[in-house]
Amino acid sequence: MASVLHIPDHVPADRVVDFDIFALPGVENDYFAAWEALRGGADTGRPALVWTTANHGHWIATSGELIRSLWADSARLSNKVLAVTPGLGEVMDFIPLQQDGREHHATRNAIMKGFGARHIIALDPLITAVARDLTAALRPRGSCEFMQDFAEILPLHIFLTLIDVPVEDRAKLRPLGAQLTRPDGSMTVEQLRDAADAYLAPYVEARLANPGTDLFSRILAEPVGDRPWTLDEARRMCRNLLFGGLDTVVAMVGMVALHLARNPHDQALLRAQPELIPAAADELMRRYPTVSVSRNAVEDIAVDGVTIRTDDIVYLPSVLHNLDPASFSDPLTVDFARGLTPIRHTTLGAGAHRCVGAGLARLEVIAFLREWLANMPEVRLDPARPVTMRGGNVGACTSLPLVWDV
Ligand code: HEM
Repeated sequence: MASVLHIPDHVPADRVVDFDIFALPGVENDYFAAWEALRGGADTGRPALVWTTANHGHWIATSGELIRSLWADSARLSNKVLAVTPGLGEVMDFIPLQQDGREHHATRNAIMKGFGARHIIALDPLITAVARDLTAALRPRGSCEFMQDFAEILPLHIFLTLIDVPVEDRAKLRPLGAQLTRPDGSMTVEQLRDAADAYLAPYVEARLANPGTDLFSRILAEPVGDRPWTLDEARRMCRNLLFGGLDTVVAMVGMVALHLARNPHDQALLRAQPELIPAAADELMRRYPTVSVSRNAVEDIAVDGVTIRTDDIVYLPSVLHNLDPASFSDPLTVDFARGLTPIRHTTLGAGAHRCVGAGLARLEVIAFLREWLANMPEVRLDPARPVTMRGGNVGACTSLPLVWDV
């Protein structure tokens, strides 16, 4: 992908790298280490902002402090672009993710009401039951491919229940999530949007005309400012939630299972002290951040000795914030005590667009930890089969083979 064509005049030569976010060197072995190679900031002697020639050229913030401050700067950095993949933003046109300012505020308010804490907490028995059933089915087998056998099932089952559609549709929806965050070229962005819309269309229209008690109905029953949702807005919002709920929790639950399998003492600790599980969930979400976001500058921004020009794209990887020693002491160490007070990580974003599904995601990670640890013996990595990972806007394990004694 590297090309001199993608180095604009305002980018100094010493800021130029060739770093393809979809193909980080070594990512198949370790997503986190692959990103670490790019770390910058004062303590490293390397710039906190670099320009990659890959993917048509864009900035990447590489220090924790800069990532966090740019993430919160919604006045100068817009969400319109969505991603560095050309055309994806224009085609998806997500609500609320790609909206700015007042427009965003109005739709986000309605969405936040739909995700109200009481609705999410009410899901706990279902999440627990699904996590327990999945664990019970796996236990006698002595081994599993965790991504396929667990991580890809739990979050989709919960999300599909939340929007009141058949849970059997999981199999056809799952590949769409992965295509959005880690496109492999097999679908155009239009095909991807159209596939999501074709699936959602009958539900969106029905929920607008005749609201039920599901998540989409609850949101669509709330006004956008002082008026109802239009059909076009409803489609874009449901599309956003479908994609938001498809891939992110899958990736996160996978990383948490990977940590447990690599650290039997943490399995033992949480079994002995289950009251630590909520704090452990927060700390594990900090330690294994997999989401990166893209912004487009709406004005020139002077930062780190260079200028981000209007319309430049800036990529913000939460991994280089959460694992920066200047932002978190001893960041690679998982310390459950860290989760006893709020952790200012960016796994779920920061500022105006912070994840609306954060409460649900956290509940799912907690339920997974609780049920897995209570019902499984000590689980280890399978020494015969490697763990593999992929990068992209949501990094994830692609294979996580686990074994245990039966
Ligand atoms: C562990 C799981 C999850 C992670 C790591 C995650 C991560 C994120 C991040 C980093 C953002 C901020 C995006 C930005 O700043 O541009 C975000 C926003 C969002 N997330 Fe999540 N998410 C998760 C789960 C979910 C779930 C389960 C849903 C829906 C059911 C969801 C729906 C959304 C939506 C709609 C937004 C846009 C919010 C806005 O623009 O105001 N997410 N998420």
